[in-house]
Amino acid sequence: MAKKYDQRFKTLYESITPLFTQSLVYDYRVIELGCGSGLVSFPVIPLVKKFVGVDIDANMIAVANKKLQILQDPSLNAKFIIADASKSILNDSNEKYDKVILVNILHIVDSPKDVLLQARLLLKPNGSILIADFCHGEKMALKYDLMSRLMNLSSRFGLMGKLWRFSFADIEKLVLDMEFRILRKISFTAKFPFIFIELSEMAKL
Ligand SMILES: C[S@@+](CC[C@H](N)C(=O)[O-])C[C@H]1O[C@@H](n2cnc3c(N)ncnc32)[C@H](O)[C@@H]1O
Repeated sequence: MAKKYDQRFKTLYESITPLFTQSLVYDYRVIELGCGSGLVSFPVIPLVKKFVGVDIDANMIAVANKKLQILQDPSLNAKFIIADASKSILNDSNEKYDKVILVNILHIVDSPKDVLLQARLLLKPNGSILIADFCHGEKMALKYDLMSRLMNLSSRFGLMGKLWRFSFADIEKLVLDMEFRILRKISFTAKFPFIFIELSEMAKL
């Protein structure tokens, strides 16, 4: 989908993006796991000191790199790399980030928990994790519900990648079970309902 991704999701992302850009400070180092073609990355990049985008799919990273190249802006400090966000390969440099962004990755990875564990390892002590994810387990119009069930069935038979049908409550339970603190939570009822949630580590007593 790499080549058609932006065209297909551009309008939806125009409404999501402010959730990620509004709390940024120029001093920040930001990493996005599962950045895809960079729909959220590119509005973030000019606002921060350093940006790293990570995706497992070489085609998605190629699209993101092409967009970066077209900008030809030496003031931007950004790079896109191919890596599995559920593995510790990311932590080789031991670099920590003020914000870790996860947009629409948790519902399609084998282990959402492993990706959250990596996000945790990448986080500075006062940093936060910003998540937006489709929740296919919420109530949807019949057409989209059927589409989602079909995708879920195909994933079970190995015909396509994983598709979790999370409810809003499932996502909340997942992060609370991992002992994250929820700083902000907004749920959106759209064609495919989605949740925005901001997490930090629990304060140590
Ligand atoms: C639905 S797309 C979302 C892309 C982007 N975050 C956005 O919202 O436009 C999910 C992305 O997660 C990537 N992905 C899936 N599993 C991954 C993994 N284990 N590590 C890194 N990226 C992964 C896919 O290649 C894909 O680009």
